[in-house]
Amino acid sequence: MNNRDILKNKLAEAKLGGGQKRIDAQHAKNKLTARERLDLLLDKNSFEEIGTLVKHRSTDFGMQNTHFPGDGVVTGYGTIDGRLVYVFSQDFTVFGGSLSETHAEKICKVMDLAMKNGAPFIGLNDSGGARIQEGVVSLGGYADIFYRNTRASGVIPQLSAIMGPCAGGAVYSPAITDFILMVEDTSYMFVTGPNVVKTVTNEEVTSEDLGGASVHSQKSGVAHLTAANDLEAIEDLKKLLSYIPQNCEERAPAKSYTLADETRNQLATIVPKSATQPYDIREVIQGVIDLNSFFEIHENFAPNIVVGFARLAGRSIGIVANQPAYLAGVLDVQSSQKGARFVRFCDCFNIPLLVFEDVPGFLPGTDQEWNAIITNGAKLLYAFSEATVPRITVITRKAYGGAYDVMNSKHIGADLNFAWPSAEIAVMGAKGAAEIIFKREIQDAENPVQALAEKEAEYAAIFANPYRAAERGFIDQVILPEETRIKLIKSFAMLENKVESLPKKKHGNIPL
Ligand code: HXC
Repeated sequence: MNNRDILKNKLAEAKLGGGQKRIDAQHAKNKLTARERLDLLLDKNSFEEIGTLVKHRSTDFGMQNTHFPGDGVVTGYGTIDGRLVYVFSQDFTVFGGSLSETHAEKICKVMDLAMKNGAPFIGLNDSGGARIQEGVVSLGGYADIFYRNTRASGVIPQLSAIMGPCAGGAVYSPAITDFILMVEDTSYMFVTGPNVVKTVTNEEVTSEDLGGASVHSQKSGVAHLTAANDLEAIEDLKKLLSYIPQNCEERAPAKSYTLADETRNQLATIVPKSATQPYDIREVIQGVIDLNSFFEIHENFAPNIVVGFARLAGRSIGIVANQPAYLAGVLDVQSSQKGARFVRFCDCFNIPLLVFEDVPGFLPGTDQEWNAIITNGAKLLYAFSEATVPRITVITRKAYGGAYDVMNSKHIGADLNFAWPSAEIAVMGAKGAAEIIFKREIQDAENPVQALAEKEAEYAAIFANPYRAAERGFIDQVILPEETRIKLIKSFAMLENKVESLPKKKHGNIPL
């Protein structure tokens, strides 16, 4: 056989991964193979593989007799919608996609290229974890990846899709990346699996209940997105990528847009007359942004805050919005974490921030205090205060108490703050305020109920509006809901070349 034929055979062998039987088993589990996934993810004929012929170096446990070219991971580069990306896709058909020394080296190689060339890095994870036969060199390989994930954080976007097992320390690479997407029913993530849990705590739990997509998208917040199957997951990755730039020096790609009639009359009737009646902030978001451009992140985690990407006149923006339809839009531990993480991502990657505010304050109670609402609320405050991207706030209704300060107020560096006429900017709601400051008068009154109502009305007349704040300049303009879209288009265009630098420092110390 000449060298050309040898190459042909080796490439054919690599394409077959761990063999047809294992490929069939992968399909039977409703999972695509590593190569099928890359075919769907990348533009046609754009993929260039690196390290196809790499073999592991393990000699223990008879491993010297078992080799598969590529060693359980397909790595390389290609394009998505014409934009360069670096990728790895773990091949479960080869030693369960487990991570050997050489498997890790392949991943590190593309990470280094992604960093040097300033392009996103996407990992498709489907692995049994550390290659058990290799011991410490496999663990070292993981650490090499974690280190690079950390060094690349904030420089290039890093996206992780979990499309099978992701267990043990292996979870920490996706955890350091910017976004985690999990496939429902076929993926799970946990630090210790059900068997260890049973041994240590005597708790019986399935993999799905311990670390499936629904658990991580609703309870822990580890997963930012979930998809019904591999195909949908890959479509979501592409969509997510369309809102974000190649690296921290660039801007996200914009779609061309010609101004037309930007009045949106439907916005005028969304906020109910009664301050206690809920409404869905997504209706406000949809009314303001370009048609069907909202891509929600963390949809099922901490639903009292809504975050996601959208386009406004073709430009990518990040939206953070209190959700009055859930817990009255109150800020709590989880919603503060969710908001802070999203704000920091947008700030890393030059994505302007738009905040919709309708917040009655922070959630009271022992549960919140004992779970460190102080530290966690401070995360959101810190994240906004630190952000140097263009920042605009629209107060639709309540802006009460400390939450007024936290939700991108003028005082913490927002560039423009708008309020609708329905805005109420106060230390607290009128009833609670009247009960405290007029306590004695109300107690002494002949009719305390009537006295409370009068005092409540008195307080509301002064503070249940945006005008006190506007007189101070804390609100730049009181605007009609229907003109919000055009105001925001003009404002973000005005802020397009904003440059703001933070004081010289090594790095800040966000209250983690
Ligand atoms: C070597 C592995 C492997 C591993 C699976 N395989 N995991 N080989 N190292 N970690 C092999 C299996 O031997 C099998 O080979 C093939 O992959 C498919 O595995 P199955 O068990 O048949 O598949 P399935 O029933 O789907 O179960 C998948 C699984 C299970 C749940 C992932 O394989 C499993 O529990 N693996 C071990 C997981 C684990 O404990 N990993 C270490 C975690 S600790 P054949 O030849 O039979 O097809 C860790 C530390 C990282 O990762 C630390 C970083 C700091």
